[in-house]
Amino acid sequence: MAGGAIVDTAGGKQYPGKLTLYVVFTCVVASTGGLIFGYDIGISGGVTSMDPFLLKFFPEVYRQKQAASKSNQYCQYDNQLLQAFTSSLYLAALVASFFASAVTRILGRKWSMLAGGFTFLVGAALNGAAQNVAMLIVGRMLLGVGIGFANQSVPVYLSEMAPAHLRGMLNIGFQLMITIGILAAELINYGTNKIKGGHGWRVSLALAAVPAVIITVGALFLPDTPNSLMERGHPEASRRMLRRIRGTDDIGEEYADLVAAREISKQVQHPWRNILMRKYRAQLTMAVLIPFFQQVSGINVINFYAPVLFETLGFKGDASLLSSVMTGGVLVLGSVVSMFTVDRLGRRKLFLQGGAQMLVSQIAVGTLIAVRFGTSGVGEMPRGYAAAVVLFICVYVAGFVWSWGALGWLVPSEIFPLEIRSAGQSITVSVNMLFTFVIAQAFLTMLCHMKFGLFYFFAGWVVIMTAFVALFLPETKNVPMEEMVLVWKGHWFWSRFIGDADDIHTGVNGK
Ligand code: BGC
Repeated sequence: MAGGAIVDTAGGKQYPGKLTLYVVFTCVVASTGGLIFGYDIGISGGVTSMDPFLLKFFPEVYRQKQAASKSNQYCQYDNQLLQAFTSSLYLAALVASFFASAVTRILGRKWSMLAGGFTFLVGAALNGAAQNVAMLIVGRMLLGVGIGFANQSVPVYLSEMAPAHLRGMLNIGFQLMITIGILAAELINYGTNKIKGGHGWRVSLALAAVPAVIITVGALFLPDTPNSLMERGHPEASRRMLRRIRGTDDIGEEYADLVAAREISKQVQHPWRNILMRKYRAQLTMAVLIPFFQQVSGINVINFYAPVLFETLGFKGDASLLSSVMTGGVLVLGSVVSMFTVDRLGRRKLFLQGGAQMLVSQIAVGTLIAVRFGTSGVGEMPRGYAAAVVLFICVYVAGFVWSWGALGWLVPSEIFPLEIRSAGQSITVSVNMLFTFVIAQAFLTMLCHMKFGLFYFFAGWVVIMTAFVALFLPETKNVPMEEMVLVWKGHWFWSRFIGDADDIHTGVNGK
């Protein structure tokens, strides 16, 4: 082992160097890529519950809503076209993330972020000016392309810039920005809902341009990561960047690992084919299952449809927006909790604790709703009950955000070796978007048919995903990214997929 590295308890190395202001600054700027994603998640639910918006674009839903106010509470918003509005974005993001993979790998992380911000900006303009459903949906697809690019590049960028022992904290800046975006959007909806003349929805949609400008301009000034510079054949620039971001000249060990990673990367012409190789089975499984589980936890039911859900529970217009602002606040605070615990407690403890908390609160919400609305959907929610539902929803949201929310982006971005990192992250993004789409598309129909049982359904998934983490996800805190293979080699299950020759990644035998 060269230059001052120490072996970490988890089996990796600790490179020398400190947290420099430069790294903090670049990571704060890059994580603003999360704002566009969050803004969109937060804005759609509020806008689709505004009457002037429904009257203009979805008059049938408006009539349905009026007629349902005294009958079946579970079914008042069930409409495919409205769901298509919410979810078209996610399909576009899914496809875009594959294109983003090539840009991120060949041109660097920075250009994907820039492309993402710019496309999102165009989408925001189209949406703000929308005259018909077609303009709305095309605008939303452009927003989706923007999100596909940003989510593909930002988490990887953050993980590569960060020193290993603070990677969790810096990466979760992305989740923090997502949640700030959600909260800002919910506050904006709350305000624009009061605009006289019925144009509030337009203001809400057009203001998506603000986060888009922030990340677009920010990306223009960002440097690329040492890993990406090395991967693209600029070893000297990579070395300089490493010195600069670590604030020391003692970067020999980390640099040597980058060179080794680059050597392997050079041999890989087809990352998409390589990712299917047996030795990457663990990473591939995580790239698919982590985002899948994140979405079937049911979180986006709350994020997209909180206002609708609260109205269903008997809150009137304003109160429902206010309630979703509360859940937005919990999201932000929970992200901060995650940032400051993830590198000390580790990923596994947060996953397991958060899972338990989500389970208990989902069962409580389902049961409270069952008691008041039964299976007929007809009933009233007295104040005390409604307050308890809101409280448990907040407990659930907190549990989600500091576990699956934050870690659902952190863990996939840190486990892939350089040669397949871009491809791996694209899989994560597209699976995430696919199931965000499925849930967004299906929720209102599911609520209408499964009723309170929907909450038990999501609780069932939480049991499965928590057990999965307990058995199959090794701890990755403190382990340098280009050393991650050690973690899989040491795992009771995944070690069987990795042969001795694969040690070349670790720099133990291979250098
Ligand atoms: C998830 C989103 C979710 C957000 C906030 C993110 O990590 O990917 O689907 O809406 O957290 O809850």
